[in-house]
Amino acid sequence: MNKDEYHFSYDVYNSVDELNEIDASLVQAARKVTASAYAPYSNFHVGAVAKLSNGELVSGTNQENAAYPVGICAERALLAAAASLHPGIAIDTIAISYHNTKGKSDHPISPCGMCRQSLVEYEERVKQPIRLILSGMDGKVIVVEKANSLLPLSFGSIDLK
Ligand code: THU
Repeated sequence: MNKDEYHFSYDVYNSVDELNEIDASLVQAARKVTASAYAPYSNFHVGAVAKLSNGELVSGTNQENAAYPVGICAERALLAAAASLHPGIAIDTIAISYHNTKGKSDHPISPCGMCRQSLVEYEERVKQPIRLILSGMDGKVIVVEKANSLLPLSFGSIDLK
């Protein structure tokens, strides 16, 4: 028997003000786009903005539904938009933020399990890691260099061979 270990490290900033100008503007864009979320059931408005390797920006927001499971998260809305509008183009960075209109929005959130699975597949598809900048409307900001570090031992296309 062998014991394997998994470690990953990430950067924690005290606020958006500690980021460089490019990252800070992506966070501000993610915060702004939360206004386009449709979240009448959870009141939790999530915004994601990607900078693609061709310089284009693509955004996504969560879109809920009265039939709750039909709703889609901001991250997967973004990936669907990026793949549709810019097929084959890698995503350098995604900034994710949220506005909880009935609560606090003062700490970073990170993608749900389903979105992690989609992010990892996107990385594999275009053969480039996606950097994630996680934040709320204020407070600390977390930067993860590769989305796949959030999904160790993941299931993927190679398993279907
Ligand atoms: N949600 C996202 O869009 N992204 C996340 O990273 C976490 C959760 C959405 C799903 C649902 O519409 C609402 O936030 C509350 O879970």
